Amino acid sequence: MPRPKKSTQKKTTTAATKKKAGKELKTLRGMKDILPADQKYWSFLRTKIDDIAGVYNFDRIDTPVLEETDLFVRSVGETSDIVQKELFSFVDQGKNKIALRPEFTASIMRAYINHGMGNVPQPVKLYTTGQLFRHERPQSGRLRQFNQINFEVLGEGNPVVEAQLIHIAHTYFKELGLEVVVNVNSLGSPECRPLYKEALVNYYKTAMSASLKDKYKKELKKNPLRLLDSKDKDLQELRDGAPQILDYLDDDSKTHFFTVLEYLDDLEIPYNLSPTLVRGLDYYTHTVFEFYMKKEVNGSQTALGGGGRYDLLAEELGSKVPVPAAGFGLGMERIIARLREGGLLEDEEKQIDVFVAQIGDQARRRAMLLFEELRSKGISVMENFAKSSLKSQLELANKVKAQIVLILGQKEVSEDTILIRDMESGVQEIVELKTIATELKKNWLKKKKK
Ligand code: HAM
Repeated sequence: MPRPKKSTQKKTTTAATKKKAGKELKTLRGMKDILPADQKYWSFLRTKIDDIAGVYNFDRIDTPVLEETDLFVRSVGETSDIVQKELFSFVDQGKNKIALRPEFTASIMRAYINHGMGNVPQPVKLYTTGQLFRHERPQSGRLRQFNQINFEVLGEGNPVVEAQLIHIAHTYFKELGLEVVVNVNSLGSPECRPLYKEALVNYYKTAMSASLKDKYKKELKKNPLRLLDSKDKDLQELRDGAPQILDYLDDDSKTHFFTVLEYLDDLEIPYNLSPTLVRGLDYYTHTVFEFYMKKEVNGSQTALGGGGRYDLLAEELGSKVPVPAAGFGLGMERIIARLREGGLLEDEEKQIDVFVAQIGDQARRRAMLLFEELRSKGISVMENFAKSSLKSQLELANKVKAQIVLILGQKEVSEDTILIRDMESGVQEIVELKTIATELKKNWLKKKKK
């Protein structure tokens, strides 16, 4: 008689369970949870940027996280690291080639074109915040999922725009308590770029060893500017001797750039002329800039943000009319890291006005109604209705630094009263339950804040 299969089945289940138990639960490389304790930094950054956007008349836009891969290939550039190595790009169930957005500018320009924003008074000023994705080698300050604050001014070619953008970012950093400096350069117009590229190719061809020439054959042919911001040590050594773009700018480009610098002088914004700053995205023309902490001006990995003018992107994406534009992106994780280093916001605690404590089931039911009443009247209130012991409720009230604790017991419920205690002075009083919100606002919370 064949043996029943029961035992085999049991064995398989046990093996699968064991395997599951042994597998470490973790986030993907370069992607992080943002825990409740860190949220104060995030809301600080977001609140401040919403304020600034309001003051400078930028409207919020939100674009999808997924877009056609081609949008980024055409805008950020085929030869860029972002497209070559870092795009999270895949084919979906409908056989479409799509990508997680590695930056916002391309999506915002796509939205501008799609929604006919060229027909409203120009410029169109837009801002956003959100997650971006780049498959980079994770290291300090470099994540695979990170957040940016992004500002764009579309439909205006005047150099005052770049100065205003730099001014806005500078003001933002100042309000956060960070002292930054901006590195600026001009990449000129598309007309003067070929001459400069030719000069760069000639320089690198002579200065490079044969093996380097071989390694960077593609860049030398397609985009020699990229050699200037390479992290390769050999190339960095050659950088100082390389021809500088400022010597190749045509008159219009020079005037444009010097006008930006004059505005920066007027606004008293500290900047460094940075002739080798080319940025890693292909769409830039004229002014480009990057923000660094004042103390670490040349740290190559620590730019807190960057941006520039990109007058040709719209046509690259199919617009029939030119849309001159400029913008910047700021790395939120990097900004938060600097706030932490400076010990900023560390002591910032959530302010709780009132903790509602209860003893006994009847009191708990009444306390739940009271909680809603206080909350609806704008008082910040906290509870722990799952706990019965007064001691553990008071411990929590202490921990969250509640100004006032309200204690509701059986006796108070039957007499329609409640005990108010000021946690700092220890002063307490029994008052009528129905007047509690007014009483708190009039005599207790106000008294405490003075
Ligand atoms: P980006 O220089 O590629 O520019 O990025 C801007 C900022 O985002 C960087 O300076 C950095 O603070 C942060 N960032 C970039 N990659 C990472 C990463 N892997 N991990 C953490 N932070 C990162 C742009 O994205 C352009 N779209 C900016 C722009 C807007 N240009 C014109 N308009």
